[in-house]
Amino acid sequence: MGAVTEAGGLHAYQLRLHAEYGPVVRFQLPGEETAVSVADPVLLEATAHLNERPDRLFEFLAPLCEADNLQVLPAAQHTPWRRILLSVFAGRPSHERHFATFTELTADLADDWAARADDEPVELQKDLTALTLRMICAYALGGSGAADPDSVITAFEDVLTEYLGRLYEVPVPGTQEERAERAEAALAQLRTTVDQVVAAHRSDSRADRSDLIGALVEAGEPPARIRDTVMVTLLAAHHTTGVAVSWTLHLLARHPDVTARVTDELDHVLGDRAAPDYADLRRLTYLDMVLKESMRLYPPGPYGARETTDALVVGDYEIPAGATVFYPFWAVHMNPGHWPEPERFDPGRFTPEEIAKRPRLAHIPFGIGPRSCEGANLAVVEAQLILAVLLKRFRFRPVPGHEVTPVERFVLWAADDIRMLVSPRVPA
Ligand code: HEM
Repeated sequence: MGAVTEAGGLHAYQLRLHAEYGPVVRFQLPGEETAVSVADPVLLEATAHLNERPDRLFEFLAPLCEADNLQVLPAAQHTPWRRILLSVFAGRPSHERHFATFTELTADLADDWAARADDEPVELQKDLTALTLRMICAYALGGSGAADPDSVITAFEDVLTEYLGRLYEVPVPGTQEERAERAEAALAQLRTTVDQVVAAHRSDSRADRSDLIGALVEAGEPPARIRDTVMVTLLAAHHTTGVAVSWTLHLLARHPDVTARVTDELDHVLGDRAAPDYADLRRLTYLDMVLKESMRLYPPGPYGARETTDALVVGDYEIPAGATVFYPFWAVHMNPGHWPEPERFDPGRFTPEEIAKRPRLAHIPFGIGPRSCEGANLAVVEAQLILAVLLKRFRFRPVPGHEVTPVERFVLWAADDIRMLVSPRVPA
């Protein structure tokens, strides 16, 4: 474990291992018999069917779940649950239904930023993960009625600060007891809120396909599983999407030529409008390429993991049953065999012609196979909308001397945030 800590986390350790030993690497983790990491997109195909996760690596999420830890549900229980999530998150009706709320929330943040003095930097990660938490709360719990967004957000932040703080040994104010009590109270409050929302749903027969809780109730999922699903959704959805947007703005601020192309496209598609309509998103093709390239260079979830149930052949290697297989998303994205000059930021890698030249699994920010991210489509809608609104309105400049260092905090996080000076793009 010392080597992992010394490398700066498992994501960075995997990068090092693959740079030194090639695309398939076996290594030791305490408590794991065999851990194998596969960084080649062609070899990954042999693992893409794996449908179990190793329990131990996801233990830290267990406190969020009352019934079972959803991340490690056995395949037979996971498949129907996944189907429900996909029917809601991936469906266009749900994106369209929530788009106006997402736009309002983004405009509120933009107004806050606009009101700041020119020389007062914004902390992208802090503000953007707060925005994406607001979005997913509105999405999963509804904007009004039973759930008061501010108290839900505070409670969820209390829970996360405590559990992620424990996992990554980040100091959190208060004694251990006080912190545990605060997190417990916050969890209880969240569960009560979800129960109230569920109760409201039961008496409302007009649940539609954009409604997560409605879909879970309709599928006969027990209340504890519904509460757990909401909790895991809030967790999975907000840091990831918030950092995806933050890293994109970080890269753009360092590449004015790319930014100019993005803003040209925005001016062309939006004209005088401050925000896109849902239908405009598919016309923002260059913005989409930029987002993809940013998630290649800074994958918000830097690795995934599976457990083998049978022995498996991967290239020249046989992996035994019961082994942990790591998906080192970052190392896959930096594989020079498929990404020439992998460190270079070049959205041109994502024209349809260039994509067609690469293996299917060369770009996998949302994971692989039957446990891949159910929220991928929704995340892209949110990220594109936020980027469109912010880049149409503002110019971003890095704060001189501020160092941006990626570290692993469940997601790929910037250690001391990403600070930017924000000014109106077109002076009033
Ligand atoms: C840019 C934003 C996002 C990124 C990069 C991302 C990435 C990922 C990754 C890498 C995984 C693990 C996949 C694997 O093990 O193969 C995952 C899982 C998951 N994500 Fe996302 N995610 C994002 C946003 C979201 C959103 C918005 C939602 C919900 C609305 C969501 C819901 C989930 C869920 C429920 C899982 C667990 C999957 C399972 O065990 O079946 N994610 N995500």
